[in-house]
Amino acid sequence: MAKGKTSVFFCQECGYESAKWMGQCPGCHAWNTFVEEKVEKSSPARKRAANEVTVSTLSQIETREEMRITTDIEELDRVLGGGIVKGSLVLVGGDPGIGKSTLLLQVCKNLSRQRKRVLYISGEESLQQIKIRAERIGEFSESLSLLCETNLDTIHEIIKKEKPEIVVIDSIQTMYNETVSSAPGSVSQVRESTGTLMQIAKGMDIAIFIVGHVTKEGVVAGPRVLEHMVDTVLYFEGDRHASYRILRGVKNRFGSTNEIGVFEMRQDGLHEVENPSEYMLNGRPKDASGSVVACSMEGTRPILIEVQALVCHSNLGIPRRTAAGTDYNRVNLLMAVLEKRVGLQMSACDAYVNIAGGIRMNEPAIDLGIVLALVSSYKEIAIDDKTICFGEVGLSGEVRAVSMAEQRVAEAKKLGFTRCILPKVSLQNMQPVEGIRLEGVESVKDALRLVS
Ligand code: TYD
Ligand code: MG
Repeated sequence: MAKGKTSVFFCQECGYESAKWMGQCPGCHAWNTFVEEKVEKSSPARKRAANEVTVSTLSQIETREEMRITTDIEELDRVLGGGIVKGSLVLVGGDPGIGKSTLLLQVCKNLSRQRKRVLYISGEESLQQIKIRAERIGEFSESLSLLCETNLDTIHEIIKKEKPEIVVIDSIQTMYNETVSSAPGSVSQVRESTGTLMQIAKGMDIAIFIVGHVTKEGVVAGPRVLEHMVDTVLYFEGDRHASYRILRGVKNRFGSTNEIGVFEMRQDGLHEVENPSEYMLNGRPKDASGSVVACSMEGTRPILIEVQALVCHSNLGIPRRTAAGTDYNRVNLLMAVLEKRVGLQMSACDAYVNIAGGIRMNEPAIDLGIVLALVSSYKEIAIDDKTICFGEVGLSGEVRAVSMAEQRVAEAKKLGFTRCILPKVSLQNMQPVEGIRLEGVESVKDALRLVS
């Protein structure tokens, strides 16, 4: 392949690459997102001759003890799979202003207290601005160094000189590589920069955190390119108007995904929320129709949430339906099940379903909660506020088994619930639990009989 610059068009939303400009991206269907970028054509790596290459069996490969560094933030350690892995590249994505810089500065603070050499590189804020933030967060030790820089070559040199154990890059969209002529933040820059950082992380055994801003569609610029390059992808999300924040693992080469960490943003930085269920159920109305407590597993942790529904007669030809915090299509499906299997006239009703607190829950186990909330609102009957339910609802109106029923029941008991409606199949494998009445149901009809 000849060396030289060629011009390529990239979709700035999803990183789709094309030789010509297009109005609509075939990858993500966004309009007007293609931007021309000049990229250096690199000559392909030299092919190794077959006699230079050897294959190995698994037993021949030596593994070293996987070194984990604890961040002293339990919620973060759990999402990372037990701490920071040396030589790993972690992407922390999220909306601007959600608290990514604050979280990572707090990580730096804790690590520097453990006498780890930490380097925080910011391309967004000046040293003074970082200091103002740091003063809000608390005491720092001298082993944290700060740098304002956006040129990756310089950063590489500094890392070689300072030999830190952990590096934070805030943010990847401000970094640039001189070999790529397009602007910082463009797909080819972001990709190239991440590639360079990956080499530094693996080559020098340094754990690197990179901050990535999310576009309005909720993805990091060039996400597919970025996500498959890094070891771990964490998303920081939350309602702008609420003070809590959720850190979600989307990809993790060194641990399970789906774990979440819950934080609360206060005056002096982020605080861990040790009991998210209690936090989510705060301010729940008593004896109100359309409010039901359900349980969803987030990784290994059961979280209780309040499902709210408002069902009212529709004046429109096509009834209005919204689902906040859960899957819209799932809500429509459950309403169809209620119509067909239970005989409720749902098709003429507007319905608004909301998971209180702004958290997103997509586990099918909350189906039963959504169904009961819908019926409770439709029939104007309040469901006892010491009752909790979980179970997946199938198309025939059957309530199907869910995993980890014991843990869910234990969490409900811990928070003072006295009655639990759960799938009969799950109940069969369970021991009775003192202080909480377990009622197994086979179908949605059974469940409705229990609450009305
Ligand atoms: P920041 O970490 O700058 O967000 P990001 O890096 O994701 O863009 O967070 C900024 C927000 O957090 C800002 O709205 C102020 C708020 N904040 C607090 O409420 N308390 C604090 O102690 C700090 C440092 C920030
Ligand atoms: Mg920031």
